[in-house]
Amino acid sequence: MISRDVVDEILDRTNIEDLVSGYVSLKRAGSNLKGLCPFHSEKSPSFTVYPRDNSFYCFGCGIGGNAITFVRQIEHMDYPDAVVYLGKRAGITVVKDAADDAYNAKKIDKSRFYKMNVDAAKYFHSCLFAKDPAAQNALRYFTEARGLSIATIRHFGLGFAPDSFDAFGNHMRSLGYSYDELVEGFLCGKSERGKYYDAFRNRVMFPIIDVSGNVIAFGGRVMDDSKPKYKNSSDTPVFKKLRNLFALNYARHTCSENLILCEGYMDVIALHAAGFTNAVATLGTAITSDQARLMSRYTKRVIITYDADEAGQKAAVRAMGMLSEVGLEVSVLKIPDAKDPDEFIKKFGKDKFRLLIENSRSKFEYNMERILSKYNLDAQQERINALKELVEFISTFYSEVERDVYIQAVSKQLNIPFAALKNDVSSQVKKRQRRFLKEENQKAIRQTQGFSDKVNPDFAKAPSVAKNEETVIGLLSLFENHQKKVFEGKLLTENDFYTDLNRRIFIYLRDCYESGIAPNLDENFSTEEVGRVTKMKLARMDLTENGDAVLEEAIASLKSSMQKKSAEGTSTMDALTSLIERMRNSTDN
Ligand code: CTP
Ligand code: MN
Repeated sequence: MISRDVVDEILDRTNIEDLVSGYVSLKRAGSNLKGLCPFHSEKSPSFTVYPRDNSFYCFGCGIGGNAITFVRQIEHMDYPDAVVYLGKRAGITVVKDAADDAYNAKKIDKSRFYKMNVDAAKYFHSCLFAKDPAAQNALRYFTEARGLSIATIRHFGLGFAPDSFDAFGNHMRSLGYSYDELVEGFLCGKSERGKYYDAFRNRVMFPIIDVSGNVIAFGGRVMDDSKPKYKNSSDTPVFKKLRNLFALNYARHTCSENLILCEGYMDVIALHAAGFTNAVATLGTAITSDQARLMSRYTKRVIITYDADEAGQKAAVRAMGMLSEVGLEVSVLKIPDAKDPDEFIKKFGKDKFRLLIENSRSKFEYNMERILSKYNLDAQQERINALKELVEFISTFYSEVERDVYIQAVSKQLNIPFAALKNDVSSQVKKRQRRFLKEENQKAIRQTQGFSDKVNPDFAKAPSVAKNEETVIGLLSLFENHQKKVFEGKLLTENDFYTDLNRRIFIYLRDCYESGIAPNLDENFSTEEVGRVTKMKLARMDLTENGDAVLEEAIASLKSSMQKKSAEGTSTMDALTSLIERMRNSTDN
């Protein structure tokens, strides 16, 4: 484990406000700061930073904690990596002791992994420039069939995997990599009979590079019409397909105004070669919310240019939704007379493409066109249906100003009075709001009943007991004088706790107190659990005056409810939920 002195020093030197500001735009709200949560999609800010406590908490999704928790969650790192990361930021070198090496030895060494991928990329790249006919054929595929210059090939580090079952594997083993490592990195495979083989054979190769410049995976394409057209690395310890974007390592430098999102590697390469260096692609899958959030860290506006076919256009509608959810402006560019951006640029040149970009339609225009084209506007009923759909669509926009602009456009296009349309949209907006509130309410009810409480699954069985436990833990974490009283005076033991989570936290806090070190939840608990404790704490932060009385009362009820231990629980709510529990259990058996 990393020494606690170092961790504390790092936390001391890390200003949570600065750290979070690198990812979230924060606005002051009293003594705290608020912003849109980077961990879930929301339209009004419930993500709060508490400078005086050096902590954060999102009231929408329950993620919360200190700087380490934030980095674990946002960079998808484990505890030691998050500490090292923050250390670097604070200018502190994290020296790992022997125990820590043992800890790391069991885990994948990421830097070795990256090095292995770089060596693989170098090998594939050099194979492209070999003298044999197969290599020359591959190079011609890129230069002639796909029209790429040597400079572009070098820029993207493109390569060729020869048609052999072991040439690559042998080369890598001569560099000191074992077959086990190569299999783990999806560069080699192992047959059922235990024979190792190269994963990529007779394919041109596209290395995938993350924003830090590490080679994290490969895509390989056949050079003819055989199937599958592309073969991609599966997820590995350093590669999560659904969280990365092809060419973002380059695009990040030129995409602050807008970013072009394509479907294919070749589209991106053709665009970069033509000067559109702000293009990226997903890695052979539909766009995920992680990828949408990743984009929102680098740009304000995304221009979607998917393939012209029906599948591409469907995917574009879906992507549009994902991207607006994270607050990005979106427009869609439909490619005329070519199947994708790559082909378009080849046929018509880059200036024509620039024109397309300039005229790319906004989300609204794109959808208005899409809706209008579905109906015969001369037939009265169809006209009404088209209007209904447009009103419904406009009502999904958050800003009233924006809605008014669109109402204006529809009113002109279909020759309907503005006021009448506005009326319809307003009532639709109200309907949506009511539906939203109702859903929120139901969610809240479900949560208090604990049906979706994954962090503390025992909460449901005795909500009022669990609430008292949370009061105790919250106050213990906030005020040291309470710790002395409770732990030294043995006012409570773990047997007084009913829910497993709270009992574990109580034991941990007591262990820390007894060994004289400050608690460091991130070392022992999941980010979700850290978030829950943060909530317990923050909810009671303003109880300075009567903290004592509240604590005493909570302790007394915990004592008495554990003594009763009656199946009826301590409240009607408890009785109901335990009844439901029992019914569930009896139907399970
Ligand atoms: N893709 C994949 N597996 C396939 C087909 C496609 O992973 N069997 C992914 C690749 O990332 C590809 C993207 O989906 O880049 C888009 O597919 P497509 O339009 O067919 O590929 P292009 O990149 O346009 O390929 P090309 O122009 O070389 O045909
Ligand atoms: Mn293509």
